[in-house]
Amino acid sequence: MEWWKQTSIYQIYPWSFQDSNGDGIGDLKGILRRLDEIHDLGVETIWFSPFYKSPGEDFGYDISDYTSIDPRFGTMEDCDRLIKEIHKRKMRVVLDMVMNHTSDKHPWFLDSKSSTNSPKRDFYIWRKGTKKTPNNWISMVGKSGWNYDPNTQEYYYSNFLSFQPDLNYRNPKVKQAMFGVLDFWLKKGVDGFRLDIFNSIYKDENFRDNPFSLRFFPTPDNHDEAFFQKKQFNLNLPESFSFAKEVRKHISKYKQKPFLIGEVSGSDKVLKSFLGEKADGLNLVFQFELIHFKYKAKFFKNLLEKNESIFPNPYTPTYVLGNHDQRRYIDRLGGDIRKAKLLVCFQFMARGVPIVYYGEEIGLKEGRISNFSGKDPIAKMNRFVPLFLSNLLGIYINRDNCRLPMLWDDSNNGGFTDGNPWLPVGTIVKENTVKSQKNDPNSLWNHYQTLFHLRKKYDVIREGSLETIPTDHEDVLCFKRTNQKHTIIVYLNFGDKEESLFQKEKGKPMYAFGGAAVDGEIFRLPAHSGLIFEILEKKSSKK
Ligand code: NOJ
Repeated sequence: MEWWKQTSIYQIYPWSFQDSNGDGIGDLKGILRRLDEIHDLGVETIWFSPFYKSPGEDFGYDISDYTSIDPRFGTMEDCDRLIKEIHKRKMRVVLDMVMNHTSDKHPWFLDSKSSTNSPKRDFYIWRKGTKKTPNNWISMVGKSGWNYDPNTQEYYYSNFLSFQPDLNYRNPKVKQAMFGVLDFWLKKGVDGFRLDIFNSIYKDENFRDNPFSLRFFPTPDNHDEAFFQKKQFNLNLPESFSFAKEVRKHISKYKQKPFLIGEVSGSDKVLKSFLGEKADGLNLVFQFELIHFKYKAKFFKNLLEKNESIFPNPYTPTYVLGNHDQRRYIDRLGGDIRKAKLLVCFQFMARGVPIVYYGEEIGLKEGRISNFSGKDPIAKMNRFVPLFLSNLLGIYINRDNCRLPMLWDDSNNGGFTDGNPWLPVGTIVKENTVKSQKNDPNSLWNHYQTLFHLRKKYDVIREGSLETIPTDHEDVLCFKRTNQKHTIIVYLNFGDKEESLFQKEKGKPMYAFGGAAVDGEIFRLPAHSGLIFEILEKKSSKK
């Protein structure tokens, strides 16, 4: 089975991970310093949010040079060393690749907007128009995607923020240039790319208006209908599905067997179209349903069953609890570590790739920075919306709050920086740092470490098939993973009271937490506890 189907991914947001030079911003040398700790946790693949040269208006998702390192984070030499040191520890590297748009300070765009005759004019999407925008397309941030340029008196299109002009993939030179960027990094040995808003790559070539929809708020797993529009002509175009295959084909000639994981959104049908009808498109896509989990056994059972029926092998589901755009899951659980452990055990034991956002392993909490004082451009756009109101409406505006510095120890600034941190460091209580949690066998960090390592050790967890098992206990989720050699059964009690289950198969606990224990043929599962039970090895049948 391909390595990327079996891996686990850990996302580092470079701004907030570890500072090494006292400027208050994380950097590559800082990450290098922490590499042994990441390895010790059990991480297999590290995904880095962008560290390319950028004005930083969207904290790196606005790139002005795809093949150089932003001086905030270090040099190309640091980057080469980082890649080498990651590989030396038998881990892999995934870079974030923003193919959809560049920064408006990228030399291509500066050239493109200089004149309608610029050789780079057609690198971006320009349309004529004066008072009226060329059509009704709304961007992902809820305003018209058209931006008027008084100099050349035309509009350019941006499906995110106006300083992030969309590239024009109908121009073969754009494709060629971006494939060149991928080649640059693949030759350096990177093992894959996370493709930013890949659902937005192509737009309708006839620029037709989007139809009306009743839906206003987008959700993390569905941007297709939002702001009273069905985004039929500016998202999820069939050309984007075909392009996924083209990119896959392009990168697959590299010997490290790199992979692509797409940030796309929409129905399962849309996600599957990006993966390809013969699983020949993007290798993986982010599946964000876990982000809106309902803390009920039934929710998780339905999710597993849905993924097994819609994304069976050779498709590989992904399980995501958070990222740099979403409220941290620990806050959605009211900080309850028992519940966090259950959720994470689910994430790591399901068939698919678990994706962990830095800090989740210590239960790093959300900040309380108001929308008004946010650095995030989305917060700046909505600065007059009070935080309580956005929370009440369930919309996440100020993404600074999920990007706070990592808490390494209880020294000044949590060991993140000697300087003035770019975002405030969260409240440091001794128990919520990496250092203290490493020394506590019952900590969340230790739970993550066990799960990362169990995945490494047992093929059945990485590649076994999955089947849910019905129980008489509505709060208990039970599922089985099987391959030729092993069977394990996972029991998770989402209820507030202890449950006892009868189990007749011979076996032994592989891992138990929250007080779960086996007592002869009875399993005792206290509230919010879990147990992974290994069925004794099957005898190979001799003929
Ligand atoms: C999605 C990224 O995850 C987000 O952080 C960024 O702001 C937008 N794409 C624009 O690149």
